[in-house]
Amino acid sequence: MCGIVGYVGLRDTLGIVVSGLHRLEYRGYDSAGIALCVPGKRQISVVKTPGKISDLETLIAAKLVSDADRTAPIGIGHTRWATHGLPNEANAHPHLSMNGEIAVVHNGIVENYAAIKQRLTQQGYKFSSDTDTEVIAHLIQECYQGDLRSAVATALKKLEGTYGIAVVSSRHPDTLVAARKGSPIAVGICEDETLVASDISAIVNYTKQVIFLDDGDLLTAKAGDVDITSSKNVPVTRPPTFVDWDVGQIEKGGYEHFMLKEIHEQPQAISYAIRGRLLPDEGTTKLSGMQMDPREMARIDRISIAACGTSFYAGMVGKYYFEDFASIPTEIEQAAEFRYRNPIIQRDTCMLAISQSGETADTLAAVREAKRKGSMVLGICNVVGSTIARESGRGVYLHAGPEIGVASTKAFTCQVAVLAMMAIAFGRTRRLSTSDGAEMVKAISRLPDIARRTLEQEDAIRRVAEKYADCEDFFYIGRGYMFPAALEGALKLKEISYIHAEGYHAAELKHGPIALLQKEVPVVATVADIAGKEKTLSNMQECRARSAPVIAIATEGDDSVNAVSEEVIRVPKCPDFLSPVPVVIAEQIFAYHMARLRGCPIDQPRNLAKSVTVE
Ligand code: M6R
Repeated sequence: MCGIVGYVGLRDTLGIVVSGLHRLEYRGYDSAGIALCVPGKRQISVVKTPGKISDLETLIAAKLVSDADRTAPIGIGHTRWATHGLPNEANAHPHLSMNGEIAVVHNGIVENYAAIKQRLTQQGYKFSSDTDTEVIAHLIQECYQGDLRSAVATALKKLEGTYGIAVVSSRHPDTLVAARKGSPIAVGICEDETLVASDISAIVNYTKQVIFLDDGDLLTAKAGDVDITSSKNVPVTRPPTFVDWDVGQIEKGGYEHFMLKEIHEQPQAISYAIRGRLLPDEGTTKLSGMQMDPREMARIDRISIAACGTSFYAGMVGKYYFEDFASIPTEIEQAAEFRYRNPIIQRDTCMLAISQSGETADTLAAVREAKRKGSMVLGICNVVGSTIARESGRGVYLHAGPEIGVASTKAFTCQVAVLAMMAIAFGRTRRLSTSDGAEMVKAISRLPDIARRTLEQEDAIRRVAEKYADCEDFFYIGRGYMFPAALEGALKLKEISYIHAEGYHAAELKHGPIALLQKEVPVVATVADIAGKEKTLSNMQECRARSAPVIAIATEGDDSVNAVSEEVIRVPKCPDFLSPVPVVIAEQIFAYHMARLRGCPIDQPRNLAKSVTVE
């Protein structure tokens, strides 16, 4: 979704802002722009365009020809994912105040923009876009009395909705003002320059010392100097967080796409996710971020999981873990449903909020609702310092490294690994024995190798994809631990290849969807060698009886699938509870090659954003 980057300092402002925009491309966008304040020039220089950052660069080369423009000491940039108004030049950010002296970039939604726009229009303000954001620029102009920070603070009081904003003014070419309410802003701390971004990927190659703004914070940034005040106008002193990412992790490293790179990173990502957390001798795990002693864990009598998309499917696997290993009744709900349904939270309920980005609006709202109802919340996030991680207060980081591809891959397998470790820890405060716990912990320690061996199947999986790349409809089926794996496989295929794909419990096919099966509609049957497999084999027979080709994802050496499948993709054998990991990796590879064969823009699928920060 939308992305913000800003810079104050003496280096190549334009180059730094544009390179930041490139780093934000993965989030999904449809237009982009930059604004630069050139000392001595009243009108801020703005260049914006629909399309890609490369289109913006072409326009910049044509429009910003003076050295003064190119060496401006302050600049902001934005990638826009349209909400109010078409993705065209007028609606792209930055937006200027009517006098051209104030430029604003904004993530979020101003809910009362129509009323503000009407009032300002009556006062003679002219609007040049259909966006909600433009009202912010005009409001700041209206409130300006010589001090940019106060003008922004006064203007923000009139807004309802959510925002992460960065503001510059030609009257203050050394000052960038930023603020946050519901949409993230991070500040990069350097000795003699300051960077601002909605996503640390945009700035992590300049600094690893980052301060995350809280809701209500207002930042005044000068080169190498930051001043933050809270919503109560009290100065905030917050130590920077060290971001443990290196730049190589946010580059493709020789792979054609981030998605493929991240698929291949899974052995290492899983090993980071489990490192130092397995205690085989005690048959348990140690997840310090949970900050729970065994007595507190033993008191939890219900778990409620909230998540969206791929994280939701990982959560489904987690539900099975908590019920199987710890006998704790566990429910899982789409976060959007949780927040509006008035869920029942009892005293000893623990909520797990699962989110790779830690910024998904619905999951964040579910966290807040659970906290309001007095629930303990544990965040399971990948992005360190993200809003869900901070607001949950406690939880477990995945340590999977940055996930850039819009299609979530390594986050899923690491979420599954973390959920298994959590459930074992809870189980050990109940009936899970030392020896059973030790077996499970040892199995988890072998997971990176299972992932590595699954990746060795890539060529074979690509050959299957080559046969089916022209199909327009797919079904994915599975039961038990394979049910969430089937749902995740269908999501992966549809989001990057645009093939219609539906995931179903294998037993549900007969209750309706089977009517759609025919020879052009392949069925991917996830049929790892686990309990319930025999029943799935019967369901595969039923599919073939309707002429649908069956592609089995099955365990090495399991010949029972051969007679009921057109194709068999092999994955390494592992204990039942870990089988979603190799099966989903195989599905990721299949989806990737299907999309590649169809010429789809894999890392930035149409209409999708990496983190969904609006409802
Ligand atoms: O960052 P989150 O894990 O909260 O994101 C949740 C979903 O938006 C995300 O998993 C989405 O479904 C992906 N595109 C799936 O590949």
